[in-house]
Parts: sequence; structure tokens; C-alpha cells
Amino acid sequence: MTVIELQAVTKSYPGDVHALRGVDLRIEPGELLAIVGPSGSGKSTLLNLIGTLDRPTSGTVRVAGHDVGALSDSRLSALRARHIGFVFQHFHLFPGRDAVDNVADGLLYAGVPRKERRARARIALDRVRLGHRLTHRPHELSGGEKQRVAIARALVGEPDLLLADEPTGALDTASGRVVMELLRECQASGTTICVITHDNDIAASLPRHIRVRDGAVVRDERSGAAA
Ligand SMILES: Nc1ncnc2c1ncn2[C@@H]1O[C@H](COP(=O)(O)OP(=O)(O)O)[C@@H](O)[C@H]1O
Ligand SMILES: [Mg+2]
Repeated sequence: MTVIELQAVTKSYPGDVHALRGVDLRIEPGELLAIVGPSGSGKSTLLNLIGTLDRPTSGTVRVAGHDVGALSDSRLSALRARHIGFVFQHFHLFPGRDAVDNVADGLLYAGVPRKERRARARIALDRVRLGHRLTHRPHELSGGEKQRVAIARALVGEPDLLLADEPTGALDTASGRVVMELLRECQASGTTICVITHDNDIAASLPRHIRVRDGAVVRDERSGAAA
């Protein structure tokens, strides 16, 4: 089944801002794709709609076959908790809490008891090779390590789809490379992944690139290279 399907999606904001002007997009299971485009072109708006964090002004968004527009907010939260993990440029970790608790939060809405949340968080942290940083709090971690904690939090609920908005945007090149390696590993284990990036080299290294400009998809290419 198609993971994500957008049909004629628009998003406008008050003040005549047309952030998306009619986007059609299908994402199939197991894809690893980049969304690229200049600042202000609508990338984050598009990712937020794909992730059901926001609703379109017009058009349809389907996640795993469910029409997002037809769901109540609580059904939508449940759908999101079950299917989608998020990673952001600036990590969005809780400052006073250690890595395990930050990752365990990824299971809050899945109804998993606290002890099991923490056990699964430790496994997820191992997966991003942070098994030696379990009790570190965010200020005791490097930028790259913080982003790996955020990836572990996104993965702990075993989502079908991982959405990352500029995940390497605040990192040095080497840390960014590690983050991209981890995302590729996730894809190899079956997760569908959609990454926004400003970095043309990163985009070019991924099997599919969607170029957004002025709220529209202007290119959608697949390269055999890294598939
Ligand atoms: N909540 C909002 N209210 C009003 N305008 C917004 C809002 N979010 C985004 N925009 C506008 O929509 C356009 C697309 O923004 P965005 O999707 O964040 O672009 P990108 O991620 O490509 O930089 C921009 O012109 C931005 O100013
Ligand atoms: Mg953005």
C-alpha cells in the first residue's frame, strides 16, 4: 500500500501566503527520498502535511490509505503515533532529562508502560550507537549525539515512515554523515524515509529527489545510484 498520497494539495496562510500551490505526490513503502529547494519554498509545510501535523487548505492527504481530512484530531494523533516518527533540525529534546527518558517519550502516545518504554529506549539508543551515553542529558551531548538521540526517539515506536526536516542542518559535516548513515540503515531495515535538506550532495546521494519551488514540485527524479 502507498504510504503517503497527496492529491492537489494546497496550503495558504492569512495574508495571501500560498505556501503550497497544488502538490501531487506518492511515496511508496521503503523509499528514501530527499525534498530539496530554496528557503521559503514550502518544504517544511509539505513535510508537516505529510506528517499530519497540519491539514491542507484544499486537496487530499492519505496516510497508509486513511484520508487525513476525514479523521478527528484524536484519531489523527493515534494514526501519527502508530505510523510516523519525526526528526527536526534543532533536535527538540527535553533539557533536564537523560537520553533514555528523551527516547522513551517517543512511546508516550503508544500506551506503553514506563518500564517497558525505558527498556525499549535503551535498545533504540544502542541502535544509533549511543549505548554508552544513556544517562547523559542533552547539554552533555555533542550536536551529532543529540540528533542520534532524536533519531532513536523517532524510531523507538517502530514507525513505517520517518520524516526528517533538515536533520543535518545544525551539524558539522562528519556528524551529518553519521546521521545520514543511520537513516540509510533505517531504510535498509524497511522504514520509509523522507528527508528535507539544503545540502545538494546529500540529496544527490539519495535514490529519489523532489525539488520544490514557490510551493510546487518542479522536479521528481529517481537515480539508480544509491538505491
Ligand atoms: N505558520 C505560518 N504562517 C504564515 N506563513 C507561514 C507559516 N509557515 C510558513 N509560512 C510561509 O510559507 C512559506 C513556506 O514556508 P516553509 O514551508 O517553512 O518553507 P521552507 O521550509 O522551504 O523554508 C514561506 O513564505 C513562509 O513564510
Ligand atoms: Mg523549512
